[in-house]
Amino acid sequence: MARQTDQDNPQDKEPTLPVGVELTSLDETFRDSPHPILDRLRTDAPVHHDPQLGRFILTRHDDVRRLLRDRDWGVDPRKSAPDAYIRLITSTSTPEELAAYEPSMLFLDAPDHRRLRALVSQAFNPRVIEGMRARTEAITEALLDELTGKSEIDLIADFAGPLPTLVIADMLGVSLADRGDFKRWSDDLILGFDPLRSEETDEQIARSGEAMRAYFEQAIAARRATPTGDLMSDLVRAQETDDTLSDQEIITMCTLLLIAGNVTTTDLIGNGLHALMTHLPEMEKLKANPTLIENAVEEMLRFDSPVTDSGRLPFADTELDGCPIKKGISVNTSLTAANHDPAIYPDPHKFDIQRKDTHHQSFGGGVHMCLGAPLARLEAQIGINALLKRFPDLRLADKPAKRRHLPSFRGFETLPALL
Ligand code: HEM
Repeated sequence: MARQTDQDNPQDKEPTLPVGVELTSLDETFRDSPHPILDRLRTDAPVHHDPQLGRFILTRHDDVRRLLRDRDWGVDPRKSAPDAYIRLITSTSTPEELAAYEPSMLFLDAPDHRRLRALVSQAFNPRVIEGMRARTEAITEALLDELTGKSEIDLIADFAGPLPTLVIADMLGVSLADRGDFKRWSDDLILGFDPLRSEETDEQIARSGEAMRAYFEQAIAARRATPTGDLMSDLVRAQETDDTLSDQEIITMCTLLLIAGNVTTTDLIGNGLHALMTHLPEMEKLKANPTLIENAVEEMLRFDSPVTDSGRLPFADTELDGCPIKKGISVNTSLTAANHDPAIYPDPHKFDIQRKDTHHQSFGGGVHMCLGAPLARLEAQIGINALLKRFPDLRLADKPAKRRHLPSFRGFETLPALL
């Protein structure tokens, strides 16, 4: 199918196709029900131009899958066009901001991406993560103990929120007393993914960023003096063999791990529990047969994806599906849309924990494929099964749940439930 240039794309003149804020969770219609809109894009404009936010959006499963793995595309905002979407979510819109930017591996290309990812990939490999099972179960049970005796809870504040923070803080070596700060800082820093955030939010992000940096600076110095067995000590030790690894890179790495692993996993557990509570026959199947949990979590990731989109930038002028794409412009891959493509998934909007082929794009792909996927899976599998075992009467409370408004992420701010 032939398409026009990004500037002259006929879709820009098509008044009925949404653009800008209408394609983000800041918009109530899109937030409440993204699929009718994404289904339409997939059919009518699978390479959809959104000039308001400086991006194209891909919605077909195969296009998303292919682009995420294409080595001719990167992620570093320093190689992006000035009006590209990625500039908005990395606070690099001005030349000064771009010069001061300290990217994490999420926004780095080879060779730095490879160097930094290699430092932590061992700690997140599936075998090592499986070794964290007993510790994760103990953390989960302790959280559930705190719920005993209550009849109504907020599944986010009381369970899905604290669980990932406790696990990743434990892994990094953050002390128990500091965990409240960690949760708050990481909730604040992730607000940077809102391309339309206010100045006030920017100030809040800067304050939390500074507090977290100060914390890690001090923690790294302490580990250098007296190494412990945690991941922060491993990173400090890695400086002995890699003299290019700076303290700044270690701080950025720890910050990324904390942010990337917190809200996302909270949303997987929250969205998964919401799907079960609104599809009671599926919940009954899981309670009757907890070994279904692995497949159930994959279906939760597919059905209500915690990260809704990722993105790439072409290193050179190129084209997608006949549509010319200029070097450095953002192309966002809708993971939510890819995961509901009827060409791949029969009855895509149905939640079926026994679905046969639950492979999905929820962890992205290629060299940036989510590093924490094995950990997220472990936490969700343990957390959801343990909660259902301890509280088999779990159900939605008679109060409305509230979705979060943060673009690129999909989850609940509050999810009231009865035990
Ligand atoms: C359900 C939970 C999670 C989801 C849905 C998720 C999703 C994603 C996605 C979509 C990406 C970008 C991939 C791409 O662009 O191809 C990513 C990257 C990443 N994630 Fe996750 N993530 C989750 C949990 C975690 C956890 C628990 C951690 C670690 C503690 C983590 C660490 C990372 C890191 C470090 C990256 C950057 C990898 C790179 O650039 O090489 N994530 N994640």
